[in-house]
Amino acid sequence: MTKGRASAPAKVILFGEHFVVYGSPAILASINRRIVVDARTIAENKVVIRSDIGVAGEYGSSSFKATEGGMEAKATLDPLHNAITQVLVARGKKKGIEIAISSSVLPGIGLGSSAAACVATVAAVNSLFQKKPSRQKICELAIKSERLIHKNSSGADCYVSTFGGLIYYSKARGFKEIKSKGALALVIASTGVRHSTGDLVAGVKKLKDRNESLFQSLAKQAADICAQAHGAIASGKCDKLGELMNENQAVLRQIGVSHYKVDDLIDICGKAGALGAKITGAGGGGAVIALAASRQDGGKIASRARAAGYESFEVEIDRKGLVI
Ligand code: MEV
Repeated sequence: MTKGRASAPAKVILFGEHFVVYGSPAILASINRRIVVDARTIAENKVVIRSDIGVAGEYGSSSFKATEGGMEAKATLDPLHNAITQVLVARGKKKGIEIAISSSVLPGIGLGSSAAACVATVAAVNSLFQKKPSRQKICELAIKSERLIHKNSSGADCYVSTFGGLIYYSKARGFKEIKSKGALALVIASTGVRHSTGDLVAGVKKLKDRNESLFQSLAKQAADICAQAHGAIASGKCDKLGELMNENQAVLRQIGVSHYKVDDLIDICGKAGALGAKITGAGGGGAVIALAASRQDGGKIASRARAAGYESFEVEIDRKGLVI
């Protein structure tokens, strides 16, 4: 039996979600919450997926059996099964594989848990065989697998999870690292409302198809905000960055991806001293990201959100990305 392990970080989107699907830029960061995947070869010719997030299942050559989480587990597990199959095909191997997923990422709230799981799965299963693929190759396979559940994925989540750090990303040009002047004090607060990224992206597409000129004008605003945010991060202007987050949130409201609990959380964060706050990721509930002036202020914001009944915690930017 051969064994391998890889881990990949979750992410936040600071600017540009949704518009990034149509080629606009986005600013993302990987964060210090990880998904760890342990892989091993097994004697039986099947794929077994276990996890600590309430889903598990077994795939035969043309069958699926949920062992935890019922048939709903399939939607979460299919991309991982696909990732494993892609690696086996690329390596020309026919083997039984078992993976076990351990996660410190809240699922379904925009923190990129499915992308991180795909990236770590591709890397862990690859590590069972001799040749080491490049990070770029791992990322490409992970994006293909993620597109099974979210077919229009921009690929941004897999990129930042693979390469780590704070990045400026566009679908056509790839990513470049942003050097920030000073640390960003970031707080996540969850509405507790889980979403399907694919459904939210499809909803935005409907709006775009109905009113292309409105969408293009909002996309231009989002791209301008992103360009200004790049400058504000590089020059350490946190007040400006907070204002830009609020402006980005106003644009996101207009494409229908906000939620009354998001508004409530943004209000709580603002009253607790946040410089700015917005949804992070697909929205429709999910998580809010707030920027604080200092770590101390970040702690205060998180504890106010918790006092109001929301799960909330401070996060730091992860610089490592994928670890094998
Ligand atoms: C999801 O984390 C981010 C979206 O922009 C979708 C994508 O980029 O594929 C909503």
